[in-house]
Amino acid sequence: MKENKQIGIYKKYLREHLSKKRYTHSINVAGAAVELAKKYGADTDKAYTAGLLHDIAKEMPAEEQRRIVLASSLKVSDVEKEALPLFHAIAGAELVQTLFDIEDEELIWAIRWHTVAAGGMSRLAVVVYLADLISADRDYKDVGRMRKLADKSIERAMCEALRFSISDSVSKGNSIPLSTLEAYNEYIHFKK
Ligand SMILES: [Fe+2]
Ligand SMILES: [Fe+2]
Repeated sequence: MKENKQIGIYKKYLREHLSKKRYTHSINVAGAAVELAKKYGADTDKAYTAGLLHDIAKEMPAEEQRRIVLASSLKVSDVEKEALPLFHAIAGAELVQTLFDIEDEELIWAIRWHTVAAGGMSRLAVVVYLADLISADRDYKDVGRMRKLADKSIERAMCEALRFSISDSVSKGNSIPLSTLEAYNEYIHFKK
């Protein structure tokens, strides 16, 4: 991916507002998103930018994130309003608009749904969602299987990712946003 001035500005902001670990994660997600975009036909520049910026708000103070979420004009469910780990996706989608004047709806949407997913996700949003799960720094138990699946079929990878996400939430006794269930119902048809 060729560097341009704007990408340099994004990276500078991330270096100043994220831990080294999360900065590396952001770079890795951007790289993984480009690979998936090439393979499955999404815009590679947008994939890089959305991957790079997806966790931009992750290390903001919780109260600051909450303030942005509650003031957001984006659709935010009650489940999301009560779950701190979910705030950063909405806050991030707001932040890239105010900080960098990003207006591309598909890109904003990809950042907004990268944690909980939704029905009717664009190819770009799916690419960013999966890139976040298979980036080079991820080391959970089934990451190898998820990488292989993402290489074979983006739909099957989505299906598995959503099945895992929902069963994980259930086992922890967490609420599940309706948007996640909508995505699940859409992709469950791709279960092998
Ligand atoms: Fe995130
Ligand atoms: Fe992430």
